[in-house]
Amino acid sequence: MKFFIDTANLDQIREAQALGVLDGVTTNPSLMAKEGITGEKNIIQHYIDICNIVDGDVSAEVIAVDFEGMVKEGEALAALHPQIVVKIPMIEEGVKALKYFSDHGIRTNCTLVFSAGQALLAAKAGATYVSPFLGRLDDVSTDGLALIEEIRLIYDNYAYETEILAASIRHTMHVVNCAKIGADVMTGPLSSIKGLLNHPLTDIGLAKFLEDYSKGNQ
Ligand code: G3P
Repeated sequence: MKFFIDTANLDQIREAQALGVLDGVTTNPSLMAKEGITGEKNIIQHYIDICNIVDGDVSAEVIAVDFEGMVKEGEALAALHPQIVVKIPMIEEGVKALKYFSDHGIRTNCTLVFSAGQALLAAKAGATYVSPFLGRLDDVSTDGLALIEEIRLIYDNYAYETEILAASIRHTMHVVNCAKIGADVMTGPLSSIKGLLNHPLTDIGLAKFLEDYSKGNQ
């Protein structure tokens, strides 16, 4: 499973990259705003900065909600850097844009997916990635992981090449369960990646090894 970090914070992206397990970055307008990145020029520069830190795919979201606007914006974003993947919302005009970009060799990430039907449509339209938001489903008492399972089944039934990018990951068990289900990618905060390191028995075991080593060398 590929690990993407879901942030526009450059320090956190650098930290995940330094760990050596980072495969890409996802952003959205809310994550940009959280870092105080506003205005088209600054946002574009920020995408380039992110691409220069990581080796993998970097999702950049369009703001337009009409087909022509999405195509114009998406083509400009894709031209910024070969690592850019154009993020398109799951709306009617977005499906048309996914198909357009697929026909023109531009990679896409279909975002704001909350049902298996939407994921099926995204795959039919040729999306490179589909992003089901599992944490936000959990937030409204709906099983987000069950959606990932459904999409996995549907995509496997027809050998769709669209990759399942489990998004809105909140914690380490989301990551582990997505890996068990067979999501192709997960995107989450740095804490969901670094949290995978933690186990008290590892800490206790290491402390004991170091203690015994130092006793033997006294
Ligand atoms: O990748 C989607 C993500 O940005 C949404 O996450 O935590 O705002 O639901 P969250």
